Amino acid sequence: MTDAASLKSDLLAAVEGAADLASLEEVRVSALGKKGRITALMGDMRNLSPEERKERGQLLNALKEEVGQALESRRDVLKKQELAKRLEAERIDVTLPTRPEAEGRIHPITQTIDELVAIFADMGFTVAEGPDIESDWNNFTALNIPENHPARQMHDTFYLPNSPEGQARVLRTHTSPVQIRTMLKQKPPIRIIAPGRTYRSDYDQTHTPMFHQVEALVIGEDIHMGHLKGCILEFARAFFQIDDLPIRFRPSFFPFTEPSAEVDIGCKRSGGELKLGPYGDWLEIMGSGMVHPAVLENCGIDSSRYQGFAFGMGIERIAMLKYGIPDLRTFFEADLRWLKHYGFVPLDQPSLAQGLTR
Ligand code: DAH
Repeated sequence: MTDAASLKSDLLAAVEGAADLASLEEVRVSALGKKGRITALMGDMRNLSPEERKERGQLLNALKEEVGQALESRRDVLKKQELAKRLEAERIDVTLPTRPEAEGRIHPITQTIDELVAIFADMGFTVAEGPDIESDWNNFTALNIPENHPARQMHDTFYLPNSPEGQARVLRTHTSPVQIRTMLKQKPPIRIIAPGRTYRSDYDQTHTPMFHQVEALVIGEDIHMGHLKGCILEFARAFFQIDDLPIRFRPSFFPFTEPSAEVDIGCKRSGGELKLGPYGDWLEIMGSGMVHPAVLENCGIDSSRYQGFAFGMGIERIAMLKYGIPDLRTFFEADLRWLKHYGFVPLDQPSLAQGLTR
């Protein structure tokens, strides 16, 4: 029986010596496979007498069992070793700094204009533009604000020298002259918004000499105040992302609209904090109204056939409300720390489908 005894020590040594799972498998095949050494010894029992075969059988079965167990425990050890090796190789250092972010930021004004464009484009508006240096006629006269009208004083206008052609010029005090420019060159139906820079000689916590407004103008044959209300409600809820945000129309006066209304949105003020929503208190966000027939006629539009609505609002104001920016003047101080805090990551373009702000 020395053959079985030496085979056993051979095989057990081979099992222990197997350095990885692949060589362990080779050892298994060489012992217990079809042509394995234990298998061969078992085959040889055919020639033995029944008693010898019984004895030999028991011995070989015990050997087979022992080698089998040795293989199994070695497999466990090797598996653990291989896992440990893999974990070590694929280790992630969670203390490494993250990849540097893009440095630049989108200014909240740019972001807000992009959001306005996304919302109004969805309602079928196109974007119109006009120059910052505007004729006195477009900025005031055509909008039904004649010379010496008190509304002119309220605008704190920056007056400029006359144009070479002798035309009186100003830095536009609102985006409303873009209404005039649009109606002069385009026949109804008209549906535009005009975001852009505006200027007034004023500076304190809520006024800067340059600021932004967005104007909206809709002209058609059967446009009425219901359209004005629906459009503004739709806009306010989409922009502030509050589905039940209430709006309120308060009678007001603008020379270029009749009737005119100021628009308030619902809010509450408590402990120096402002929260938008259906809470019973109100906050003004824009001026609006039905375009005055005199304005239509000044642009050559037949006011007995066409009518429409318009509204205008301050972009900084709605951006401050939406993004909790407390001081208007900080918008234009070009402080990089401020921009890093309030700015937006480039390439996150606002869209109604993907969300206006992410
Ligand atoms: N232009 C006005 C202003 O600067 C705002 C405004 C009010 C615009 C009523 C409009 C409007 O189009 O209908 O205060």
